[in-house]
Amino acid sequence: MTVTKAYLVAALAAATLIVPATHPAEAHGRQQTLRQAAPHHLRVGTAAAGGGHHLDQPYPDPFTYDQPYRRVLAQEFSSVSPENQMKWEFIHPERNKYNFGPADAIVRFARRNGQVVRGHTLLWHSQNPAWLQEGQFTPAQLRSILRNHIFTVVGHYRGQIQQWDVANEILDENGQYRQENPFIKALGPGIVADAFRWAHQADPHAQLFLNDYGVEWPGAKVDAYEALARQLLADGVPLHGFAAQAHLSMQYGAPDQLQSVLQRFDNLGLQTAITELDVRMTLPAGGVPTQEQLQTQATYYTTVLKACLAVRGCNSFTIWGFTDKYSWVPVFFPTEGAATVMWDDFERKPAYYALRATLAAAR
Ligand code: G3I
Repeated sequence: MTVTKAYLVAALAAATLIVPATHPAEAHGRQQTLRQAAPHHLRVGTAAAGGGHHLDQPYPDPFTYDQPYRRVLAQEFSSVSPENQMKWEFIHPERNKYNFGPADAIVRFARRNGQVVRGHTLLWHSQNPAWLQEGQFTPAQLRSILRNHIFTVVGHYRGQIQQWDVANEILDENGQYRQENPFIKALGPGIVADAFRWAHQADPHAQLFLNDYGVEWPGAKVDAYEALARQLLADGVPLHGFAAQAHLSMQYGAPDQLQSVLQRFDNLGLQTAITELDVRMTLPAGGVPTQEQLQTQATYYTTVLKACLAVRGCNSFTIWGFTDKYSWVPVFFPTEGAATVMWDDFERKPAYYALRATLAAAR
């Protein structure tokens, strides 16, 4: 398997000459990592694997137990996003009980390794605990529950979170507020502004973001987010950024309009960010991607990175995991996979080298 992958990587780079297998700095004996290659204004991040789908897998918690994984996480990245460990069901499992331990460990790790942390997330329709999802609460109680959660969690990490995904996936593909979100359903869209205000009061230094998928191309959803951002800013709400998750699948085409989308939010004076990039593909029989697929994947990754680099206020570029070993993709899309920049054994794919070369060229 390893030989096959190594062969594929080398053959691809040699055949195409588009994606260099080694960075020029390596030719002089100086190995560079993604964070070393990046321009100073840009944080390069990854999700820290744990919780969620990992709980059903036959391995222990990746962030806590996989030492080679932790080494790569520290060396390659300057920003870390808890994949599941700050979500409601994980950090607030019972109404009167918080579980900060796993997220605290990530924040400590980040501090030791000179990394910032992106907090994820405070207002979402998914991964809410049963006590909240199934509880019978009045609107006033729900409002108080959300307020207390935000003050407790954001307050707990006050001064230690660079950016918070305050509102995650609050609009559907038509730009309508998601009624699956229990707070929006009971309290109306005005609760979004309150969530931002509370988060800002709890940590005035954290940059507060809207975050969603399906906003990589223009359309109704992007239009609705732009209208929402304009309204929040006009109302003096502490909104600081707009983020595109960028979970891409090669069957839906290249993200070649992302720069123009980010620019629309930059024009409003907001920061922008890429927060969850991965590029999945339909795997051939045998499960090993073709050279062409790996090349296309590398191009998608760099198209997203270049979009961010081209927009002045895009200061954070995060991939949703760096190794296929722990990717959420095969769990959700059984015929797709190979979505990250490294194989299971951390061997780098063309996408990794393409990202590094693009970062280095932008310094
Ligand atoms: O809650 C159920 C539980 O009741 C059930 O017994 C169990 C059986 O499999 O599943 C549990 O749900 C799991 C959930 O995490 C909560 O733990 C799902 O199977 C599992 O697939 C899910 O995975 C996480 C997913 O978010 C949930 O939406 C992934 O680990 C995580 O990578 C993923 O991350 C999200 C971002 O936060 C937001 N943007 C999209 C991105 C990818 O989906």
